[in-house]
Amino acid sequence: MGNVNAGILGTGHAYPQGILTNAELEKLVETSDEWITTRTGIKQRRKAAPGEYTSMFAVRAARQAIERARIDPMEIDLILCATVSPDQILPSTGCIIQAELGANKAAAMDIVAACSGFLYGLTLADSMIRAGQARYCLVIGAEVLTRYVDYTDRATCVLFGDGAGAAVVGPVETGKGILAARIRSDGRYLEQLYSPGGGTRIPATAETLAAGDHFFKMKGNELFKVAVRSMSEISVEVLEEAGLKPDDVTLFIPHQANQRITDAVGNKLKVDEGRIYSNISMHGNTSSASIPIALDECVEAGRVKPDDLVLMASFGGGVTWGGVLVRW
Ligand code: ACO
Repeated sequence: MGNVNAGILGTGHAYPQGILTNAELEKLVETSDEWITTRTGIKQRRKAAPGEYTSMFAVRAARQAIERARIDPMEIDLILCATVSPDQILPSTGCIIQAELGANKAAAMDIVAACSGFLYGLTLADSMIRAGQARYCLVIGAEVLTRYVDYTDRATCVLFGDGAGAAVVGPVETGKGILAARIRSDGRYLEQLYSPGGGTRIPATAETLAAGDHFFKMKGNELFKVAVRSMSEISVEVLEEAGLKPDDVTLFIPHQANQRITDAVGNKLKVDEGRIYSNISMHGNTSSASIPIALDECVEAGRVKPDDLVLMASFGGGVTWGGVLVRW
């Protein structure tokens, strides 16, 4: 191999049956459907039932992607599972998924990059395929965030939902596939979105659990500004690298964090609403699963056709961000 182009050969997604509506949240915290809808665009989010966990949704999404890519699980060289809500600390959720799929020739691991995890995965898969280290990579974004949500904190509990999306990445003809991919992070902003407890720094004890140290803490206001700036900048960067402009984009799939963030990025890039995909009203923010779920929904709806230019951009805790540009 060497000098091979990498592209997306198949996609899939899955989520729990359980739905948590704004009306139900109104009963849990002091909030309103009106506040949630106008401030975020979210109407409902999926919530895993007790006994459901991250790899279950990941495996369902992955099976669909593998089937559509028309490959055998044994052909997969690398499994990258982006998640901040793994099944357990050890082994990686990637290894658990590998066993379920019977993809026994692959290397498997997790990527912790919050909402940017899937684009981190696509970027790494692209590099591995180009370098001749892998032929087929399975990239998954999967989360059961509702396990880390504090349902007494109205500022975060209205935002997050559960689900998984997957893509098989493999060789494609010249001029197609991933045209440009960039990932970045800035650890100076780590306290804008984090979960302090449960690791080696603040090990889980009865006290830390009672204090809710394992829940997500977020400075939503500050994140908002950094999210708009970094997603817009990285989008321009990947477009410029490919010698293209926002006008050339057929479909823009931003990370689904907040409809107002999506609108602000669209405005900055001058990509009109008709070219931007949004499913935030149905899913809320599913972190690393948000882009692959959205991408697969677009594929299923026939919104991506051969030669379309698809731009994906993300932003998340860390902070992390990324942009990937694909000629379909
Ligand atoms: N219901 C009613 N009122 C609320 C709620 C709620 N659910 N949540 C907050 N409020 C109140 C606040 O207490 C505040 O009241 P005050 O003015 O009396 O103090 C008021 O509403 C305004 O709060 P803000 O935080 O300023 O509201 P904002 O318009 O910024 O919206 C939000 C908050 C939705 C969190 C927004 O800031 C946001 O989406 N930020 C970005 C989130 C994000 O991108 N996260 C990163 C990706 S996620 C990841 O990586 C996993």
